[in-house]
Amino acid sequence: MQMSNIARHIAIIMDGNGRWANERGLKRVKGHERGAEAVRTITTYASNHPEIDVLTLYAFSTENWKRPKMEVDFLMRLLNNYLKNEMETYIRHQIRFETIGDISRFSSALQDRIAKTKEATKRFSKLTQVLALNYGSQDEIARAARTMCDRGESITVESLEKRIESSKFGPVDILIRTGGEQRLSNFLLWQSAYAELFFTPTLWPDFNPDELERIIEEFKKRQRRFGGI
Ligand code: FPP
Repeated sequence: MQMSNIARHIAIIMDGNGRWANERGLKRVKGHERGAEAVRTITTYASNHPEIDVLTLYAFSTENWKRPKMEVDFLMRLLNNYLKNEMETYIRHQIRFETIGDISRFSSALQDRIAKTKEATKRFSKLTQVLALNYGSQDEIARAARTMCDRGESITVESLEKRIESSKFGPVDILIRTGGEQRLSNFLLWQSAYAELFFTPTLWPDFNPDELERIIEEFKKRQRRFGGI
């Protein structure tokens, strides 16, 4: 008998904020603002979903520093304000906040805000929302391998996996990319080894719980063989 697929860990590459704004004759940053609202809506929905335990969102990649300083600064401020304003949402919906990636390049005020939000939400377990911040998967895997080499540890799939920071949140079941591109952009490469991939043309600010639910329904119909037959 085929067991139903469980959508335990959903990961999303949130693409298309800039285009969403351009299409409306607005500045790109307006698209990011609306993107942050979609983050709140999808996170709240996921926290009330019976299957979803982990929602990992690609909020800032190691490549995003290449954007104009004004846009980078805006994204940093947006993140800081989001964490400040959403504390109530984290508490009301019992959402634990976590991050992956190297946040040491962020301002100390933002690092403080991140640490405080993690501390205040660490006992919650309805959903873990993981924001990928200054995150790059190849870098994370290389760092794990380097640590193991320095310590003289032998490298196997299992031992390396334990050293990869983001693998503590478990394998990805559903990987979604909005905005029409079909690539992984260095996101959770290790954890997505057997993820089911979904690409949608919807721009991130327009992504909503109905579309997420349709993706989960489609996921249930897919046969996951994990390399078997
Ligand atoms: C991609 O859209 C999106 C980003 C680089 C940043 C993602 C940020 C958010 C969704 C908002 C802030 C997040 C939080 C958690 C508060 P793009 O600008 O590359 O879009 P484009 O491809 O249309 O230019």
